[in-house]
Amino acid sequence: MTADVRPVSAEDLAALGSRWPAHDVWDGHAARAAAGEATFLAAWLDDDPVGVALVQWEGCVGAAARTAHPDAVEINHLHVRDGHRGARIGTGLIDHAERLASARGVARTVLAVEDDNQAARGLYLRLGYRPTGVFDECAYSYLDDHGVERRASERSESLIKDLGGVSSPDQGVARRSQMATLVPPRPVGGIKKP
Ligand SMILES: CC(C)(COP(=O)(O)OP(=O)(O)OC[C@H]1O[C@@H](n2cnc3c(N)ncnc32)[C@H](O)[C@@H]1OP(=O)(O)O)[C@@H](O)C(=O)NCCC(=O)NCCS
Repeated sequence: MTADVRPVSAEDLAALGSRWPAHDVWDGHAARAAAGEATFLAAWLDDDPVGVALVQWEGCVGAAARTAHPDAVEINHLHVRDGHRGARIGTGLIDHAERLASARGVARTVLAVEDDNQAARGLYLRLGYRPTGVFDECAYSYLDDHGVERRASERSESLIKDLGGVSSPDQGVARRSQMATLVPPRPVGGIKKP
């Protein structure tokens, strides 16, 4: 069965909270979406939420990536529920995010991947992303698969893909000038808090 990927509505948010509890993480994503800073995507199998991603319209989250790719939009907080991985749900979320970006005239999307996450890196390369040699380091807290809050730091390389559209670096600068807060990137083993 193919997962249905769509932006999270108010109704979806309630279902997400009850079927895939993640403390205040979903509310943080929804708040960024309500502010127009991001699109919060979820993938559903019938009524079950099985994956999420954020499209960060204000550009890359990491400082080095922002400098190197000023025109790019970052897809982050990509997470597929344990037990549903390997079923092309992550691919569907990325594909949906790229189509939203193309529709807005964004020329390039970025996915950042930690040094030790070879599985995700392999997926991104397969989807046409290329290594840039641009790295960002960040410290963050996240919820592990048991809902326990952990502290960690990670070094991520931004991988980039040309979508075939046209955008100028000024677009990225304009997007960021409206940015209220920076949200750290993806979780290592669990769901990262906003
Ligand atoms: C990385 C992740 C989002 C991929 O989603 P997915 O739905 O499993 O990915 P898809 O089914 O679309 O693609 C499968 C690919 O993902 C990779 N993969 C990563 N973890 C996997 C897992 N546990 N099981 C199967 N494939 C996995 C494989 O390399 C696979 O590539 P292949 O099809 O060429 O063999 C998902 O595994 C996940 O949520 N992992 C934990 C959080 C995370 O690492 N997020 C990304 C941070 S950069």
